[in-house]
Amino acid sequence: MPVTSATGKQRRKVRFASTSQIPAAKSSIGLNQPADSRLPSTTVSQDRPKQQSKMSETQVHPAIPALFKELPIIQDPLTTETTKLQEETVNKCLPYLKGIHSCQKGQLNRFGVPALNRDDHIAYLYDSLEDYPASFVALDASRPWMVYWALAGLTLLDEDTSQFRERPMQNPTGGFGGGHGQLSHCAPTYAAVLSLAMVGGEEAFQMIDRKTMWRWLGRLKQPDGGFRVSEGGEEDVRGAYCAMVILSLLNLPNTLPPDAEARKHGFETFTSGLSDYLSRCQTFEGGISGSPGSEAHGAYAFCALACLCILGKPEETISRCMDVPMLLSWLSARQYAPEGGFAGRTNKLVDGCYSFWVGGCWPLIQSAINGTQPATAPSQTLTGNLYSREGLTRYILACCQGKNGGLRDKPGKHPDSYHTCYTLTGLSTAQYHHYHTNASASSRGDYSSAFSWKFLPVTTSEDHGSDISVFDEKDRLTALHPLYVIPHQAAENMRIWCENARLEL
Ligand code: FPP
Ligand code: ZN
Repeated sequence: MPVTSATGKQRRKVRFASTSQIPAAKSSIGLNQPADSRLPSTTVSQDRPKQQSKMSETQVHPAIPALFKELPIIQDPLTTETTKLQEETVNKCLPYLKGIHSCQKGQLNRFGVPALNRDDHIAYLYDSLEDYPASFVALDASRPWMVYWALAGLTLLDEDTSQFRERPMQNPTGGFGGGHGQLSHCAPTYAAVLSLAMVGGEEAFQMIDRKTMWRWLGRLKQPDGGFRVSEGGEEDVRGAYCAMVILSLLNLPNTLPPDAEARKHGFETFTSGLSDYLSRCQTFEGGISGSPGSEAHGAYAFCALACLCILGKPEETISRCMDVPMLLSWLSARQYAPEGGFAGRTNKLVDGCYSFWVGGCWPLIQSAINGTQPATAPSQTLTGNLYSREGLTRYILACCQGKNGGLRDKPGKHPDSYHTCYTLTGLSTAQYHHYHTNASASSRGDYSSAFSWKFLPVTTSEDHGSDISVFDEKDRLTALHPLYVIPHQAAENMRIWCENARLEL
């Protein structure tokens, strides 16, 4: 049966040229990839220099500030592999940032920024849910993720996703695997639970076996306060964040199951020792690593901060567990000029997916600084900006949109659904002020303060000094919950349904 969009438009059949288009999603996101199916490099010359625009420098839109179209004023005189790659990346991005690359289609807006190619991205995401050729076998372990990325992307673009109600890969001993017959892992379980929340409805919620989920999560809790990503798997902040997302959305009790190993080490609850564990993940740079003693990375920073915000109010949990000035300094250094986008770690390159992993940290830190707000009248300080929303918006709209739909890491890379989902989520984050309030949608159970987040649109009339909002209203995306990364209503509906559903443990 042909897939149709909410607008009634028939979708085209999925087309894949070659295996070189397999998405370059981070393997460390938690995909149980078979060892013999490494993803090939996607750095294919989609936009070689010979294709560069015939437009001259004089035709560069006058509203583009020098910061986003010129080389940085201070340059490192030492040349290394890293500085060469950085320079190459800047040179690849500049024609896009200036709006003069021949691959860019359509008009620039009054700020010199290209429009969001909504229809192309919608078509791309519907395609990504269709059948894949055999050469895409490496994606077999990412089925729930593929569904989540497509559903989240389509939701951001205002498409109705309730038509997708399929049976996922739940294991009888609790949790979901990446594919049929695979071991339960917290990453595909997170993706499956969020996808079921997005499609919504009793039938979807009932599909989750909450009792075995609770017991399985109990087996992941570790004696140092953290969580493993799977039984016998590695322990890192992804495990902690995914576990807390699942426990809180499904309204599972904070008490550890009676057979949980961690009980033998004096722990009684899932949250025991967790904030101290997360605190130990802050590094000498000020950023947050996957586990104590390793390198700070933006994706882990988001997992740790969002996890702290599920544990309680950001001004209490973040401020108590993190050195906030150091964290601010490290996070600020993740945004580059002229590119405007974020890199994941020190001395690495900008990448569209960090628009969310790093971009999603900002509302959480901003809320830790501003404190809990009255739900009805949030304070004026909410309009503050800790990063350049303008720079991020320019990078996403100018450099990340693929010419046939879908969004990408950077110019020269192919779009994939992981980058489409997280660049759009980052763009959405930049379009709203998110704040924590004293009014929760949840009436009982643990972790109810996670359901107290609200948002206000950032408008072009706001005065942010030099940082302005540079998108047209027609490019406005749906706002997502800053901790659950699905619409607020979807998170609240799942939680409320679970609060009212019987759970015999
Ligand atoms: C490095 O990749 C990437 C990481 C160290 C972290 C990846 C983790 C996630 C994307 C988050 C997963 C979250 C959940 C909820 C499961 P790289 O070396 O290819 O990239 P880089 O050069 O940009 O650091
Ligand atoms: Zn990426």
